[in-house]
Formats: sequence, C-alpha cells, structure tokens
Amino acid sequence: MADNNTVMVDERLGHIAFIMDGNGRWATKRMLPRTVGHKYGAENFKKIVKYCGKIGIKAVTVYAFSTENWGRPKNEVDTIMNLLSQYLDTCEEEMKIHGIKYKFLGDMSVFTPELREKIARVEEISKDNSLLLNVAINYGSRAEIVHAFNALAREGKKEITEKDVSDALYTAHCPDPDLIVRTGGDIRLSNFLLWQAQYSEFYFTDVLWPDLTTDNIDEIVREFYSRKRRYGKV
Ligand code: FPP
Repeated sequence: MADNNTVMVDERLGHIAFIMDGNGRWATKRMLPRTVGHKYGAENFKKIVKYCGKIGIKAVTVYAFSTENWGRPKNEVDTIMNLLSQYLDTCEEEMKIHGIKYKFLGDMSVFTPELREKIARVEEISKDNSLLLNVAINYGSRAEIVHAFNALAREGKKEITEKDVSDALYTAHCPDPDLIVRTGGDIRLSNFLLWQAQYSEFYFTDVLWPDLTTDNIDEIVREFYSRKRRYGKV
C-alpha cells in the first residue's frame, strides 16, 4: 500500500535511468574530501533504487562509473571501486529483501578477477528476481555501440537492422528507458545510453545526487506523467 503522498507508476514508466552527478560538489560544499561525497552517493543510490521499486518501477539503470572516469585522481577511482566491491557484498541480502535482479553494464574485462567473480555471482543468484537494476560500470555508450557492431561483424552479418544493434547492446535484456534523470545541474548525456535514449524523456535537476530525496522522485514522476510522448507522431 502506498503512503498518502507517494506516487505509483504504471507501465508508461517502466524504466528509469539516473546519471548520479554531483557527489564531488556535495562534499566540497561541506569542506569534505570528494571521496566522502561518493560514500554518501552510494548510500543514496541504495535508497533511491528501493524507492523506485516501491512505487512500481520495473527497471532502474544507474551510471556508476564511466569509461572516462578512470582519468580521475587515483584515490577517487580507488574509493569508487571499493564502494562497488562493498556494495556487491551487500547485494545477496538486499536482493532477498527487495527482490532486485542485478545486471552490470559495461566492459568488465578491466576489473580484477575478484571483482568480476563477485559481479558474475550476484547476477547469477539474482536472475529470477523482478526489480531489474542495471549498474553501468566502465561503461561508455559509444564503446557499447562499437562493441555491439563488432559482435555483429563477427557473426558475419551483412545487413544490420536496428533490432540487431539493440539486441547486441549491454541493455538487450530490457526496454529503452522511459525517463533519464540527471542530477547535479549539467544538461548533457555524457556518453550514457545514446542509442537507448531515442525517445526517452529527460529530467535535469540542480539537486546534487546525495541530496536527491524520495520526494524529488515523486516530483519527477509527476512531471513525467505531465509530458505527452508522441514518438515522432502527432
Ligand atoms: C558523479 O559525481 C558520480 C560518479 C562519477 C560516481 C558515482 C558513484 C557512486 C554514486 C557511488 C558508487 C556506486 C555504487 C554502485 C556503489 P561527480 O564526482 O562527477 O560529482 P561532481 O560533478 O560534483 O564533481
């Protein structure tokens, strides 16, 4: 049963994606190291995913680490990798309580064997659950598209259809996002889901990721439902 002020969604909002931006600025504003912002960001990510499940969203995708993020200072990269590793350790319990089905999007080959093993295990043990959570790590949309084209080339495809490409992307298991939300004030996609965003709605907010609340999600959902999606038609 929903709380009084809680929105509930229907099939029109099946998949929501988040660009979780603003962790660094959140920390800097408090005169804390940027890495602390990522810790709070990771906590908020867990809270927001659960709330999305509670209001009836079927699939959530988050941009946790891009192919470009390796260029950040080593201690920041290490912090995010540690947060990811710690997060993976909590997934088994979380999935039992919240019915989460985990998928990791991106090129996993760069990660340590230990991390890759954890990822594979979490995906395997959660595969029959219903709340899909795609976590994009070492993800870049152009790299994903090139990866898909190469897979199709290896199969010997001469004529490639849009469906072939969609089916060869890391997101082949789920529909395109209905809504892409970016926190942190910037208005761009930053190499996230370029193919999949064909008819996604966009929502940009100045709120920094660690500050994003469940009330904000309610507002975002209401705004989504006020939009008229025409898919190029009249
Ligand atoms: C963008 O904020 C955020 C990231 C590059 C990393 C996102 C990571 C997390 C939320 C935590 C780890 C995730 C998991 C799944 C455990 P920014 O650093 O670019 O912020 P800024 O724009 O204020 O500098």
